Amino acid sequence: MVILSIDTSCDETAAAVTSGRKILSNAIYSQILIHKKWGGVVPHLAKRAHEERINLVIEDALKKAFRSGSENFISREHLASARQTQAFSRNSLAQYLKFIDYIAVTYGPGLAPALEVGILKAKELAKKNNKKLIPINHMEGHIYSCFAQNSHGNPEFDFLFPYLCLLVSGGHTELVLFKDHTRYEVIGKTIDDAAGEALDKAAKMLGLGYPGGPVIEALAERGDPSYHIFPRPMRQSHDLNYSFSGLKTSFFYHLKKLSQQEKYNHVNDLAASYQLAVFDSLIFKLDRALDNLKITTLIAAGGVMANGMLRQKLRQVMKKRGGTVLFPKFKKLYGDNAAMIGIAAFFKAQKKQFVNDIESLDRVPRLSL
Ligand code: KG4
Ligand code: ZN
Repeated sequence: MVILSIDTSCDETAAAVTSGRKILSNAIYSQILIHKKWGGVVPHLAKRAHEERINLVIEDALKKAFRSGSENFISREHLASARQTQAFSRNSLAQYLKFIDYIAVTYGPGLAPALEVGILKAKELAKKNNKKLIPINHMEGHIYSCFAQNSHGNPEFDFLFPYLCLLVSGGHTELVLFKDHTRYEVIGKTIDDAAGEALDKAAKMLGLGYPGGPVIEALAERGDPSYHIFPRPMRQSHDLNYSFSGLKTSFFYHLKKLSQQEKYNHVNDLAASYQLAVFDSLIFKLDRALDNLKITTLIAAGGVMANGMLRQKLRQVMKKRGGTVLFPKFKKLYGDNAAMIGIAAFFKAQKKQFVNDIESLDRVPRLSL
């Protein structure tokens, strides 16, 4: 089953071709340079950039899939006849779309104007090419990113339900039970800012630009995490929810007390201390969740998992409990991408979870799992 998937939920224009869990192509156009100077994602600029790039990114994904994984993409007979007739010498999407079984698209959560671009394009392609449409929750995509395989089907491993998922991105921080394919239960989430957002905002206060997570990580590697003890919010609450806005405020007031010179001298220490407070908070509630569950495998996904220190801490948490943790196997799968959407769609297609009336599919910016 070959799926063309599209994700325009935030600031990456992404399209991919997948066959089951195998990634045949994963094209991503990042808008970071557009948003960098504003210190965050500007919704109407994101929409325009998605509109400008979406056709190119889809074409790129289809062509790459055809070139690199053509035997997965197209049956051998089709491939031979396509090459003979030179059907692929011209530049038409329709020629590639013949070999696609379904089209999948992210319909939430995300920025409304950004989501709209991907949804409109998916509807247009589905109607023109007579394909069924599969609607995907972006966070569901992040979960399935941990099960992705390369075009040869590696790594090879099976699902072993249930899983606990820790999803940490710029817009979300969630603990989710993954009970079976397409069956989820959110057991904890942030009541205000997401952990990625907390890192982005701290970086902005330090004048380090956007996105802040990778810069904070780089500085923290050279800093002393015990330089200042920032608060670990929500420890007293008996639930599994998170909160990062108090931590952000305490960082702001701490910076206010420092001179420019002190900030300059201690920028690495500030980054290390703040990052540790964010990660300790994530792990505190994760530990609490694990105490109450008989689950030994953690799925850890979302943009913030690109952080090596966080991954190391999560490995330690699970090792201590005799369990394991699954991360996305390829670097491109940490941040937003469409391959993860295509993989989630494969399992939805098996359950025949298609859109009944294509026209009715709409964006749901606050969609939850
Ligand atoms: O999943 P993602 O690409 O987009 C959303 O769906 O939000 O996550 C983006 C977030 C941003 O907050 C960014 O600062 C953070 O992931 N991030 C990192 C790192 N790389 C990206 N945070 C910490 N360390 C990193 N290396
Ligand atoms: Zn994301």
